[in-house]
Amino acid sequence: MSSQIDHLLNESRRFSPSPEFAAQAIGTAELYDEAKADREAFWARQANELITWDKSFTEVLDWSNPPFAKWFADGTLNVAYNCLDRHVEAGNGDRVALLFEGEPGDSRAVTYAELTDLVKRAANVLEGLGVTKGDRVALYLPMIPEAVAAMLACARIGAIHSVVFGGFSADSLRSRLDDAGAKLVITADGGYRKGKVSALKPAVDMALADRNGEGEQATVEHVLVIRRGENEVEWTEGRDLWWHEEVEAASPDHTAQGFEAETPLFVLYTSGTTGKPKGILHTSGGYLTQAAFTNRVVHDIHPETDVYWCTADIGWITGHSYVTYGPLANGATQVLYEGTPETPHPGRWWEIVQKYGVTVLYTAPTAIRSFMKQGRQIPQEFDLSSIRLLGSVGEPINPEAWVWYRDVIGGGHAPIVDTWWQTETGAIMISPLPGVTELTPGSAQNPIPGIEVSIVDEKGEEVEDGNGGLLVVTSPWPSMLRGIWGDPDRYVDTYWRMFADKGYYFAGDGARKDEDGDIWLLGRVDDVMNVSGHRLSTAEIESALVGNEAVAEAAVVGASDETTGQAVVAFVIIKENYLRAHKADGLAQNLRLWVGEQIGPIARPRDIYIVGELPKTRSGKIMRRLLRDVAEGREVGDTTTLADTAVMSVISKQVK
Ligand code: WTA
Repeated sequence: MSSQIDHLLNESRRFSPSPEFAAQAIGTAELYDEAKADREAFWARQANELITWDKSFTEVLDWSNPPFAKWFADGTLNVAYNCLDRHVEAGNGDRVALLFEGEPGDSRAVTYAELTDLVKRAANVLEGLGVTKGDRVALYLPMIPEAVAAMLACARIGAIHSVVFGGFSADSLRSRLDDAGAKLVITADGGYRKGKVSALKPAVDMALADRNGEGEQATVEHVLVIRRGENEVEWTEGRDLWWHEEVEAASPDHTAQGFEAETPLFVLYTSGTTGKPKGILHTSGGYLTQAAFTNRVVHDIHPETDVYWCTADIGWITGHSYVTYGPLANGATQVLYEGTPETPHPGRWWEIVQKYGVTVLYTAPTAIRSFMKQGRQIPQEFDLSSIRLLGSVGEPINPEAWVWYRDVIGGGHAPIVDTWWQTETGAIMISPLPGVTELTPGSAQNPIPGIEVSIVDEKGEEVEDGNGGLLVVTSPWPSMLRGIWGDPDRYVDTYWRMFADKGYYFAGDGARKDEDGDIWLLGRVDDVMNVSGHRLSTAEIESALVGNEAVAEAAVVGASDETTGQAVVAFVIIKENYLRAHKADGLAQNLRLWVGEQIGPIARPRDIYIVGELPKTRSGKIMRRLLRDVAEGREVGDTTTLADTAVMSVISKQVK
């Protein structure tokens, strides 16, 4: 099978940064030249300028044992000191670090001085519980300031945190606790979601119970419980401790010690397409360098004036790099919102933007498309004029959603940075620089300065511009994963085996470079369809569907077909406004023709199903594997990682 992915969609709109934006932007065109001239010297400069080292490094990159990289290895630093104390020492202790907004409407501003104090106390609590360098601490928490503090308290003492998203079940939590060999769990009584307290502590209790009755005990010694939800909790004496009691009793003095740059910082589990979740390991110096650098130049953070808001949960890599580490290393002020976008009303996010005067907003295409589905009248009720820059991450953003985002949320002028990266890459890899790049809606465009990527065929040969292929990273980068926790062979097999002779990192995504050199992400290679010998990407057909005025969201899959090998099957959600004004009769047929007109007859879906929801993971990615089961008339596979497990039975019924 050829790895060539056919290209069907053309986008000719271009948006240049305004002269005012370009004049104030931190990331400049010279960065590309500097990085090209000497990549290692470029990263060394970033590491020296953005980070305060206890002991300077003399070696930048050690790649003598690929694919196990070491960056800045003989330097020492304390990550928490870099995110906290140094800002206080520089006289910025009164600057707000976190503008916390609880879902019920309670709010709290936490300054750098206050957050530093909290983290010092929490570090003392952890040490008092016998947690030391290299120990694993699991965090199972709502989006509250203490969650950020808990991550930093671990970092401060050299312990390795592993955040498990609060929406995961007791079973998922237990398997991650076991894999990591966690010594401590930090959780909360609950957190507010959709107007209710969603309990967390009971799931921890269940996870830690001897579940199979065979005496299989978890490695966890203590559970620290943050009070948030005013929930009744069961208590295991000797094991469970209230965070607030321990923190209040702890000493406010704690000296941050410098650790070697390759000291593990965190393990974050990510579900692969198959099999058990992978514990992605990140370390300290290189990770912090690239997280801080990209937050500065891609999100264009001016710490004195910006109010930044990344909507990701700390349970995902985006919450690690662009809520906790990057922005705090840069001394930024950011919004932290606990709840869901539609609670208590569908304009909640826009109310928050108005309330805090958010200037830079970073979110996911799935959120943008769900706002499109509800209609622009909702955000238009609020004053969004403070917004000057928008960002997108997690999935391809189709051009229609991109333009809607810019017009409706960005006032028709805010640049959009479409940022491609992964849990494994640790930080942004491909993205425009908002003051430099002429923007192309739907394309992540160029590797950032200091990053080298290529689009290749299955032999590792670069494909010609205009053609699609496999996205690879061709040289090591500072925030790259250092391995899979406890499984070095799986690390090599998953990411490096495919192009072992070239030494390329295989990202698992399809991509295309167009004639202008812009990179278009085409979706996961596992989802590519083969229709009559043409390899079609999910992203392009979905994008064409969402380009129709009726469609809010779309997912396409390849279903086996006797004549064409595979046929395109589409699942679409119709916009609420459209449904109010039109009949849905004949809509599926019209959409088939529409796709044919937009990108050619080969891509015309065989079947289009109009559905109310799409199956998504808890981080908002569409699970096409399950839709393929429905399209091929099979029993639907494992749905445990879905945000809403009921969705598939509804879709199956709608399809029948
Ligand atoms: C996809 C999220 C297109 C891609 C930071 C990648 C994207 C996977 C983009 C990683 C983007 C992320 N355009 N696709 N801008 N950003 N992806 O590990 O398939 O949750 O491999 O990290 O999301 O997802 P992860």
